[in-house]
Amino acid sequence: MKIRQEQKSDHQKIYEINKLAFNQENESILIEKVRFGDSFVPELSLVAELDGEIVGHILFSKIKIVGKGEYESLALGPMAVVPKHQKKGIGGKLLITGLEIAKKLGFESVIVVGHKDYYPRFGFEKASSWGIKCPFEVPDEAFMAIELIEYSLKNKAGTVQYPGEFMEVE
Ligand SMILES: CC(C)(COP(=O)(O)OP(=O)(O)OC[C@H]1O[C@@H](n2cnc3c(N)ncnc32)[C@H](O)[C@@H]1OP(=O)(O)O)[C@@H](O)C(=O)NCCC(=O)NCCS
Repeated sequence: MKIRQEQKSDHQKIYEINKLAFNQENESILIEKVRFGDSFVPELSLVAELDGEIVGHILFSKIKIVGKGEYESLALGPMAVVPKHQKKGIGGKLLITGLEIAKKLGFESVIVVGHKDYYPRFGFEKASSWGIKCPFEVPDEAFMAIELIEYSLKNKAGTVQYPGEFMEVE
């Protein structure tokens, strides 16, 4: 299995994978919008390729934590693996590779709204531990963050400011 940056020729397949995994098109449409926005980081839209076929995708986009100051961070999501290839570690590999690339690019933290039983195994903790709040209503344990550099979220309390595209998705 190979993890690599998306190419233009992958866009349609990424749309289909997300539609299949989420059973709706909202996430696929979100990805298409993010690609045209300021928050898009091309190196952090990754696909998992298995025997030449794309079976998974993950996206990280730039966000801000707005508190006493403004701090740059990344939002993880959407991430998707086609149903027939789930639970084989592909999602985990996409996530770990993404975190490594994010760190190399100089990003210091990542924030996710997601399943409380999934992300902690990769080191995510409740964002509220750092005083970081979500701009929309979400269960406390579903709003998580990870420091890519130790203590990078210390004293970064504030509310996450997502790009407009994210606020339109349900
Ligand atoms: C979440 C997702 C990307 C994980 O991909 P994957 O390749 O199956 O992940 P991995 O094989 O690395 O990990 C599988 C583990 O994740 C767990 N997992 C998957 N979805 C989960 C969920 N909704 N809640 C809790 N745990 C979940 C599985 O139970 C499995 O646990 P196990 O290792 O204890 O058996 C994939 O299940 C998916 O596409 N889901 C639908 C879309 C989605 O919900 N995306 C995440 C929100 S942005």
